[in-house]
Amino acid sequence: MRFYLAEDYKELSRKAARIIFSQVALKPKSVLGLATGSTPLGMYRELVKIYREEKLSFSDIKTFNLDEYYRISKENPQSYYYYMHKNLFQYVDIDEKNINIPDGEAKDIEGECMRYEEEILKAGGIDLQVLGIGVNGHIGFNEPDLKFEALTHLVELDETTIKANSRFFESQERVPTRAISMGIKTIMHSRKILLLANGAEKVDAIKEALEGEIKPQVPASILQLHPNLTVIADKEASQKLSSSIKNRKYN
Ligand code: PGA
Repeated sequence: MRFYLAEDYKELSRKAARIIFSQVALKPKSVLGLATGSTPLGMYRELVKIYREEKLSFSDIKTFNLDEYYRISKENPQSYYYYMHKNLFQYVDIDEKNINIPDGEAKDIEGECMRYEEEILKAGGIDLQVLGIGVNGHIGFNEPDLKFEALTHLVELDETTIKANSRFFESQERVPTRAISMGIKTIMHSRKILLLANGAEKVDAIKEALEGEIKPQVPASILQLHPNLTVIADKEASQKLSSSIKNRKYN
């Protein structure tokens, strides 16, 4: 694991965007796994800047998003389809056919989950997967207690997740209670993983994920076993991490 301690959210976002930039510079046909939520917003802004200034091209890139709410339309501003277009895709030269997001409106959800896994395989697997972390230690929408071996599947959202995500909705009652999410197994098959954590509310989740016991009650703890994990955390989120983690050299 490589650990990068960022001074603040801005530095975290810049560093994360530079890692994606390097990935794409080295392999223009990269397959990127992307995340939504508040954490990667700054990273997407930085990526758009890099795209504009340094002419990074997304034209050969394929993307796979981690998750999508169940029974939400693409036009709904709360959908992750909408989020990705609003925050990144509309600004860059990505080919729409290279964008993959689970279809939350699919009639046959099981078929949709299998199709998603097949598309990832057909693309040659994910080169670099970006992850945020939930206050409950979830990654994607893999909530505590879910089996580590799951592939893309329909999940029931945890109370804590519904509460945390209610800030994006008119009220907590409007937050969907289910979602389609890549499974832990899907995520762990990515060649590289970039985990981002910022803010004091992530302090316990990141501590348990990186230094606690590896167990399904803390889904992100499985990342300790990934052979190519980079973590970027800001000072607030890192407050409880031991110095042996914080002093790991990042190069
Ligand atoms: P956040 O969500 O970036 O909005 O904090 C992270 C997550 O739930 O994975």
